[in-house]
Amino acid sequence: MTTTLEQRVRRSFAETFSGPPDLVVQAPGRVNLIGEHTDYNDGFVLPCAINFATVVGARMRPDRLVRVLAVDQGGELDEFLLDEPLLARADSHWSGYVRGMVWALQGAGFRLCGADLVIAGDVPQGAGLSSSASLELAIGQAFKQLLGLDALTPARLALLAQKAENEFVGCRCGIMDQMISACGVAQHALLLDCRSLETRAVPLPTDLAVLIINSNVRRGLVDSEYNLRREQCEAAARHFGVKALRDLDSAQLGSEPGTLDALVWRRARHVVSENARTLSAAEALAAGDLNRLGVLMAASHASMRDDFEITTPAIDQLVALIAAVIGTQGGVRMTGGGFGGCVVALTTAPLAALAMQRVAEAYRSPDSLPGTAFLCRAADGAGLLATMSTAAEEAP
Ligand code: GLA
Repeated sequence: MTTTLEQRVRRSFAETFSGPPDLVVQAPGRVNLIGEHTDYNDGFVLPCAINFATVVGARMRPDRLVRVLAVDQGGELDEFLLDEPLLARADSHWSGYVRGMVWALQGAGFRLCGADLVIAGDVPQGAGLSSSASLELAIGQAFKQLLGLDALTPARLALLAQKAENEFVGCRCGIMDQMISACGVAQHALLLDCRSLETRAVPLPTDLAVLIINSNVRRGLVDSEYNLRREQCEAAARHFGVKALRDLDSAQLGSEPGTLDALVWRRARHVVSENARTLSAAEALAAGDLNRLGVLMAASHASMRDDFEITTPAIDQLVALIAAVIGTQGGVRMTGGGFGGCVVALTTAPLAALAMQRVAEAYRSPDSLPGTAFLCRAADGAGLLATMSTAAEEAP
């Protein structure tokens, strides 16, 4: 997939900026297998990077100008000078993620160079597969590679990308999406401790299918509901006198709300139980125990539906349809921020094929749209695809 994207980037680069890019980088989107709304509670997540990515061709300029062409956005061009104050547009326009990343890098003291950049990507947008994090990381990688900035480790780039998203674009996301796009390992999921940023690569069984189905449910109120959940989690942490809900276990949480608001208590119960499920799921995955994994994914979905209230009836129906096909041979749950987006199923290849068939027959979104299925591979995190010299060596 990235090969075709790379070709598109190279072609557009030659047409727009004449000549080849100095180098081409990529950064993947992600799917979260389990551990939802735990990242901003300093908890655990278990995502994998996917073989859908943003690819950027980059060439240094001798001046302070940055020109950026987005192939998939009708060939729109954005231009800005590195020494002028950078502004984002009010809407969530793609250029905000580019400018935001440049803003964060310069704010951290990195002296950047002018550059010509061409972007192309195949991460489905607005589906909860982190197309924006992959764009931020691809831009960060492009400058890292152009300037040989070794201080920009994957975790450092991820933190700067999160800063860009939080403070420049204005979305209060956690660290999961940026970390997995930066640090993904092919054929592995990553157990990420969102407090220490320690990662453990968990091998995916070779015969495991990672099936993503976009519900095509139009996502509404995502930002306001997301921010509300964060506030409720913070309120629960304050109530229990802990730094974050990560520091609470089910015994401390208790079996009843007590003096805490009942809704806020249920939000906390989701996070506390989801952290425990995520750690168990990493073990189950490593052991190839599909039955256990399925039980944990089902409990995660129920908790998102009943305690955190971020699923929708159409998503619940989609999950139930797939669960009936999979049985005890794996699991399925909504993935990502919620209120629409995708579900993820982990199962055997034959059952994944049957599940796709069943979804095609029986699922329609509230707007009567069918689901869109993607069979994915766990991919590597952001990095160099090619430089001018390697591209020349490979040419026939
Ligand atoms: C979005 C955010 C992430 C995370 C998930 C929920 O994807 O960007 O940081 O909070 O929602 O798990």
